Amino acid sequence: WLQVILVLSTVNVPSGFNFEGRSSRLYRSGDYGKTFHDISSVMNNRFVKQEFGIVTGPGNSHQVILTVDVPVSEENGGVIFSSVDAGMSFKEVQLPFHPSQPISFHFSNASYLVAIGTDVSETANINCKRFSLFDADRRGELLLRRSQDLGETFTTIAQRIFSFGYIGGFLFTSVMEKLVRLETWLCIHCFHFQFYSVLDGDEDMIFMHVDDPGDTNFGTIYTSDDRGVVYSKSLERHLFGAEGKSDFTNITSLRGVYLTNVLEKDGRIRTVISFDRGGEWRLLNKPNNTECGHNIKKCNLHIHGEYSHVKGLAPVLPLSDPSAVGLIIAHGSLGDSITSVPPDVYVSSDGGYTWTRTLRGSHHYAILDSGGLLVAVEARGDRLVSVVKFSTDEGQCWKIYNFTEQPIFLAGLASEPGTKTLNISIWGYRTEENFKTTWVTVTIDFEHLLTRECEDEDYEEWLAHSDMGLDSETRGCILGYRETFKRLKKLSVCRNGRNYVVAREESPCLCTREDYLCDYGYYRHENSSECVEQLDFRDQALDVCLNGEENEIVTSGYRKIPGDRCKGGFTPPRRMKTVGKHCGKLKADPLESVSFFSSTVIVLAVVCVAAVTVLITAMLLIAKKMLCTRR
Ligand SMILES: *[C@@H]1O[C@H](CO)[C@@H](O)[C@H](O)[C@H]1NC(C)=O
Ligand SMILES: *[C@@H]1O[C@H](CO)[C@@H](O)[C@H](O)[C@H]1NC(C)=O
Ligand SMILES: *[C@@H]1O[C@H](CO)[C@@H](O)[C@H](O)[C@H]1NC(C)=O
Ligand SMILES: *[C@@H]1O[C@H](CO)[C@@H](O)[C@H](O)[C@H]1NC(C)=O
Ligand SMILES: *[C@@H]1O[C@H](CO)[C@@H](O)[C@H](O)[C@H]1NC(C)=O
Repeated sequence: WLQVILVLSTVNVPSGFNFEGRSSRLYRSGDYGKTFHDISSVMNNRFVKQEFGIVTGPGNSHQVILTVDVPVSEENGGVIFSSVDAGMSFKEVQLPFHPSQPISFHFSNASYLVAIGTDVSETANINCKRFSLFDADRRGELLLRRSQDLGETFTTIAQRIFSFGYIGGFLFTSVMEKLVRLETWLCIHCFHFQFYSVLDGDEDMIFMHVDDPGDTNFGTIYTSDDRGVVYSKSLERHLFGAEGKSDFTNITSLRGVYLTNVLEKDGRIRTVISFDRGGEWRLLNKPNNTECGHNIKKCNLHIHGEYSHVKGLAPVLPLSDPSAVGLIIAHGSLGDSITSVPPDVYVSSDGGYTWTRTLRGSHHYAILDSGGLLVAVEARGDRLVSVVKFSTDEGQCWKIYNFTEQPIFLAGLASEPGTKTLNISIWGYRTEENFKTTWVTVTIDFEHLLTRECEDEDYEEWLAHSDMGLDSETRGCILGYRETFKRLKKLSVCRNGRNYVVAREESPCLCTREDYLCDYGYYRHENSSECVEQLDFRDQALDVCLNGEENEIVTSGYRKIPGDRCKGGFTPPRRMKTVGKHCGKLKADPLESVSFFSSTVIVLAVVCVAAVTVLITAMLLIAKKMLCTRR
């Protein structure tokens, strides 16, 4: 199904007009975008919800869902069009409710659809057991019920639910402490509503943002333990814009790396990066091929994320992929903080330790062939483009290809999900003399450029996080183990191909204090990895409520970081014994209530990079230039 591309175009009219002026058209290409056919007739002249778009199943799926915009006042419920043959044919399905979010696929079996809907219809004669029905007006009074037999029977597992969601291995609910009427709740919202947002999570832990009270646009990131019950402070003054956007980014090309932006007391936005899953955050190093200028004291790289994207500063988000080990491409500002000057494009080949400016000005970019090929097109709303830039050495040198005789206004790049492909489509439009707009897509197949398949000699061994650790014993150790990858040499011009899998070797590290969090009632002294007992906890039994049972923790102050795989070395004793039954507010409740601990003191390490002398910079530039010309 990789060759199939579906395009949905919608023409909307401002609200207040009748629905007649709206139209949706659906186009399908079965040949990687070389030709498109209008298949709008499959939608029976219905209007598809613009904000819901096209939903496709997980992986290289053949499942497609389109959601029709049905006015809530009309009809018995929503309507979807569903295809199981990659858009060759669609079936119209009447729903007994109006979906209020795009329909999604069940995480373990994509044969099941998951929906949140409003105003459940009484008259629909569809078997409702298949749907999880929930009434948005009764938030705060809802029951969370679980079925393990596909809806035959349910057990109630929590009450007074306001909302719920899944992330990684965790299920969350927000619970109203006191049952309040909607009017009262709205009032709380106006004055001192403090919101929580789960930023990201996996099987081991989650990152949670807890907003500061008031409209401050910042809050604190906490990281959870492996049960999602106890939280440690990770980062203060974390930017979270009024639009509900944060710049928190999981760098998926290197384990443990996350970056985000903080809103400093002086009102400036600065980028921080963590290489150990939120344990420590630091400013980004200055790229090695740029200078800040004389009067700028702090010279660091700052990355534009989602927040800059909604503000229109950066056309695309930072990009990384597990198949392109260590590679990151992103828009950034150089200097003391993020500025509104149009950003340049920067790359890192080692997961964010070192950076290089690779392109001047804003671009749309894509990673192809598992990192073997980078493609970029300049993004300027006011300028026509006709060239695409590409690089086979992670952005050290770029080549240019003129892809059209009639330049276009760029809309964006599109390729199949993931980075395995060598085909990229450039989307744009031209305006003709009669002000008619014509959409254009140019598909480039780079297989004609990278004709040779990579061989063993084209790869080299690379120790991830090799900047981490002071001696050979701890070098590259993150969360208790180090990883060595086989990576494509930058000088190799060949293709990884579709069947490429990242070769990886893993070895355990000896445990050190860094592999532990401070336990309940302990904290880390500034500049030290030792956990010290908090005065107000001294000689007190440490009781925590886990699984509705009271537990006493016998500890020497350390607990292993969730997911840390270190062996031997520093192993302080710790055990947990049950001392009582039934604690927590929700009695006999399998869910656990959450408590926050701020025992970990985070030291934000400001990495000062010594200024490189002009002479050395010049020599480096000459050396690089020769390298580029020779290739
Ligand atoms: C998903 O559910 C369908 C319908 O119950 C079943 O036929 C199919 O085997 C399931 N697939 C998997 C992978 O469990
Ligand atoms: C970050 O991305 C990696 C790679 O896709 C994934 O394995 C990991 O679970 C993600 N981390 C979190 C906290 O979601
Ligand atoms: C690309 O080709 C077109 C037509 O041949 C030409 O008008 C245009 O200037 C070229 N662009 C560049 C950047 O070379
Ligand atoms: C690129 O597209 C062509 C068809 O135009 C297809 O034959 C080829 O397999 C595609 N290459 C990749 C790597 O997807
Ligand atoms: C921690 O280290 C920083 C920088 O070296 C220093 O300025 C600060 O005083 C130290 N703090 C303590 C409590 O030793």
